[in-house]
Amino acid sequence: MSAIEQDIALKTTPHVKEWPLLGSIPPMTKDVGRYFLECYRKYGDVFEISILGKKYKVLAGPQAALFMSTREGKDALRSKEFWAGLIKEFGAHSSLPGSDGEQHKALRDVLKRGYSKDSVKGRYQQLADITDASIMRDWKPGTEVPVVFAMQNLVTDQIGIMLTGNAPLDYVKDIRITILYILNVLITRQRPKFLLQLPSYKRAKKRVFQLGIDMIENYEADKASRDHDARTIIDDVMEANRDHPEIMPDNNLVLMAVAPYVAGLDTVANTVGCLVYYALKNPDVLARIHKEVDDYFARGEIDEATLLKDLPVLNGSIMESMRLFPVAVAQMRTANKDFVFQGHQIREGELIYLATAAPHLMEEFYPDPDKFDPDRYQPPRNEHKAQGAYSPYGRGPHTCLGKSLAEVQMCLGMARLFHKVDMELESPDYVLKTKMAPTPGPSNKFKVRVKGYRN
Ligand code: HEM
Repeated sequence: MSAIEQDIALKTTPHVKEWPLLGSIPPMTKDVGRYFLECYRKYGDVFEISILGKKYKVLAGPQAALFMSTREGKDALRSKEFWAGLIKEFGAHSSLPGSDGEQHKALRDVLKRGYSKDSVKGRYQQLADITDASIMRDWKPGTEVPVVFAMQNLVTDQIGIMLTGNAPLDYVKDIRITILYILNVLITRQRPKFLLQLPSYKRAKKRVFQLGIDMIENYEADKASRDHDARTIIDDVMEANRDHPEIMPDNNLVLMAVAPYVAGLDTVANTVGCLVYYALKNPDVLARIHKEVDDYFARGEIDEATLLKDLPVLNGSIMESMRLFPVAVAQMRTANKDFVFQGHQIREGELIYLATAAPHLMEEFYPDPDKFDPDRYQPPRNEHKAQGAYSPYGRGPHTCLGKSLAEVQMCLGMARLFHKVDMELESPDYVLKTKMAPTPGPSNKFKVRVKGYRN
C-alpha cells in the first residue's frame, strides 16, 4: 500500500466539542479523569482537544496505557518539551521527567536507589516515629484539622528527614506555590505565562532555590562525617556530581536537591487526603482499617518485608483512593516521530496527553466503579491486574521512580494515623470538594474533627 493509500485508510481523529478559546479547560478543571473517560466513550481511542488555542491529541483507554511501555511507544514519545519550563526556571541542565533516551537512563540510574524504598531500609521504625511526632503536632484533640495542609507537613517531615536529612517545614508554602505555578503555567499550560511575573511566585521560587543551596552547603560542610548507612538522595546527587559531572553537572544540583519535594509533596498529600475522606465516609471500611492497624501494632515490630501484605484493607483503601482520584490522570508527551496509534495518524511534534488513568473508572474493569471497595485488589478479584486497567504511577520509562517508597510512606504513615487518631467528617453527609490544578486532590478547605487519640 502506498503512503497515500495508507493515509486514506486511517481514521479521522475527531476534535471534541468544546468552549471557544478556553477549549477543554472548563471540563478539565471540573474533573479531568471523568472528562477524558467521557470523551473516550464518545469519540474513541484518539481525539483532539485544545487548551488556550493549542491543540493536543489525547490517547485514552487501556491501549494507550499499554502503548507507553512498548518499544514502539518508547520510540514514539518524548518528554523533553513538557518539562523544559521547569529546567529553565531552575537554570538547570536537565531533569529526570524532562530527559529522554540515554540521558534519562543515566540520570535514573544515579537516582533510583535514593528514590526507592531501599533508601529507608532498616528505618521503618524511624519513619513511624517521624509520623507520630507530626501527628502529635498537627492533629490535636478537639481541633478541626485542614487535611491537605496537615498531610503536606507530614510528607515534608517524612521526605525531609528520611530522604534529604532535615525537614524544611518553613518552606512548605513556598514549595507548594512554586509547584502550583510551574505545573499550571509551564507543564500543563492551563494558565497564562504572565502569572510567572507575580511577586508571590517569584518570592516562593527564590526561597525554594535558597533551600536547595542550603542543602548543598550543608552537605559540603559535613560530608566527612556523614553516616553511610543513612545515605540520602543528596549523597547520591553530590557523589554523581563529583564522579560523573557529565550526568550531574553543577547547574543541576539545586533542582535535584529540591526535586523530592516537587515530586512527592502534592502527590502523596493529595492521595492520603482522599484516603482520609473515603475511610471516614465508609464507616464499615474504617472499622476494618482500625481493627487491622490496631492488631498490627499490638504484634510489635514492623516487618519491613511484608508491610503492605500485612495491611490489606488499608493498602487496598490507598489503592482505591488512587483509582478513584489519581493525582496524574494523564501523562504529557510530544510525538518523537510520525506513528499510527489505533488507526490514527500522529505526526512528529504533536502534543499528546496519554490518559492512562481513564480506565480507572471503567465498569469493564471495575464493577460498580464509583463504589469505594478496598477488596478489589485481593485475589481472586485482582481487578487492577487486567491489562491497562490501573496506572496510578504512570507507565513506561518515566513510571514513578518513588513508587515503592511512596507505597511504604503512605501505608505506614496512614497506619499510624488511623491507629492513633479518632476523627470524623464535618457531618456524615459531607461530600468532598476537590481541586484539579495543579495536582488533583481534596480542596484545601477539607477539614476533619479530631475527637481524641485512640492510642
Ligand atoms: C501517591 C504518590 C505518587 C504518585 C501517584 C506518583 C505518580 C507519578 C507519576 C504518574 C509519574 C510519571 C510522570 C510522567 O510519566 O510524566 C511520576 C514520576 C516520578 N515520581 Fe512519582 N508519584 C508519587 C509519589 C512520589 C514520591 C513520594 C516520589 C519521591 C519522593 C516520587 C518521585 C517521582 C520521580 C522522581 C518521577 C520522575 C520519574 C522519571 O521521569 O523517570 N513520586 N510519579
